[in-house]
Parts: sequence; C-alpha cells; structure tokens
Amino acid sequence: MAVNKTAAEHRVRARLGRWPYDDDVAHLVLLDHHMVPGADDVESWIAEARTQGARALRTGALFPPSTPAFVAHGFTAIDELSLLELTVANARRDDRSGTRVRRLGASQIEAAAAVDGRAFPAPWANDGAALIDIIQATPRSRARYVQLEGRLVAFSISGQAATTGYVQRLAVDPAVRRRGLARRLLGDAIDWMQRRNIERVLVNTATDNVAALDLYRSFGFEERSEHLTILERTLSDR
Ligand SMILES: CC(C)(COP(=O)(O)OP(=O)(O)OC[C@H]1O[C@@H](n2cnc3c(N)ncnc32)[C@H](O)[C@@H]1OP(=O)(O)O)[C@@H](O)C(=O)NCCC(=O)NCCS
Repeated sequence: MAVNKTAAEHRVRARLGRWPYDDDVAHLVLLDHHMVPGADDVESWIAEARTQGARALRTGALFPPSTPAFVAHGFTAIDELSLLELTVANARRDDRSGTRVRRLGASQIEAAAAVDGRAFPAPWANDGAALIDIIQATPRSRARYVQLEGRLVAFSISGQAATTGYVQRLAVDPAVRRRGLARRLLGDAIDWMQRRNIERVLVNTATDNVAALDLYRSFGFEERSEHLTILERTLSDR
C-alpha cells in the first residue's frame, strides 16, 4: 500500500497514508480544517483508499463541520476528543523538575516511538514514520525529549501555523509517570511558543484522559464546547 500519497487532485487538500502498525487501514488527514469536505471529496478518498488495497479508511481528528459528509457515506465514530485552548499570555507555569530537555532528532525517533507505544493503547500508538509526519505537519515545529539514566523516557512534539500553536504529541513512559516530566516538556513547548509570538495554543485528547486533561488545565487550558471525532468505515463492501 502506498504511503503518504498527496491527494492533490481533491478539492479539499488531504493526505492519505497508512495507519501506524496497520498497513490495511488507510489514514486520511485533512490538511486545512477550515475547508469542509463534500460528498465528492469523500467518495474520491474512499476510491483512492480502495485502490491502495486498504480494508478500512480512518480519519484524523475532525472538527464538527467536517463530519456530515463522512457520516452520509457510512463512517462511524471510533473516538471522541476534547479540544482545549490556552491564551499563551495567560499560561500558568509551575515547573519544579529542572530536568534537562533535549532536541529530538532523527536518531531518537525510534526510541520515541517505543515510548509512544507504551504510552498509548492500540490502535492509537504512533510508529517512527508517523512521528516524523507529525513533526512535518506544521510549518514550524519543536520536538524535545528527556532521558533518565541514559534512556529516552518522554517526548513532546509541538507545532506552529501562523499565530496558533499546537501540542501535537506528548508521551511519558508509564514507568516514570508523576515525576513532573510532562509538566517539564509542556512548559518547554509553551516557552517556545511565547518566544515565537504565538497567541493561542490548541491541544486535543480523549474525553476520558483524566491525566492529560488535569495537566492541561493546570497550565490554564480551557475546554472548548465542541468535541473532535475520529471516524472510520470498512471498505470491504465493494
Ligand atoms: C498525561 C501524561 C503525559 C502525564 O505525564 P506525567 O509525566 O506523569 O505528568 P506529570 O508528572 O508532569 O504531572 C503533571 C500534572 O498532570 C496531572 N496528572 C498527571 N497524571 C495524572 C493522573 N494519573 N491523574 C490525574 N492527574 C494527573 C496532574 O495535574 C499533575 O500535577 P501534580 O503531579 O502536581 O498533581 C502521561 O500520563 C501519559 O503519557 N499518558 C498517555 C499519553 C497521553 O495521554 N498524552 C497526552 C495526551 S495526547
């Protein structure tokens, strides 16, 4: 199955790749969430995923206006995400750890993917290729990690598009949680966003992810009223 094919011919720009650790599932990422897909778009993405031999097509996190065209074509929700927003000028900081934050480069990607796999349950874990995609998803990005006893145990990926910042990924190895490592990495990301004149930050996480919601709220993030949805449909009914 082809990887990361740019679906440039579609009206709404999107990238069709493979789902991490599952080559049979095509992953559709809309590249501009201000554009709302129509029936033509959805039909062409289904056709393209079939051409690639996928047994199912799964979307990324969709804003509410983007979902109806998918639902009308047989997609159903497999996850619901809370969307949180922070005005950077109002960020609350309380970082007591002092842990050194290091630049996450190509040579640490597989170690980061291993942490991601321990931090997120299937099918939500990212492999190395998916983490590189996330780093490249925004015009500017910052990827950092922390290590303990020489081993990468936590990492973050943040992005910038215009004056909006995104916390794209944050994962801490379950063996070293509640030691302030996520707080350290998130604080580093917010500092970077402040330096880059970012005005507001968005992050999403599963509606039942109590640890992450608590962490983000402690920085001053507030939940927006709309939820994001991840949709899927099988492609076997040819
Ligand atoms: C969410 C996550 C990143 C937190 O990492 P962590 O290093 O354990 O967090 P920290 O030690 O820095 O905790 C910072 C704050 O987060 C909140 N928090 C962390 N874990 C929590 C838990 N299990 N329950 C409730 N609140 C929690 C608390 O407010 C905590 O502050 P406190 O320790 O002073 O009470 C980690 O649990 C994780 O990797 N989870 C799976 C992946 C994930 O959900 N990523 C983020 C969402 S996309």
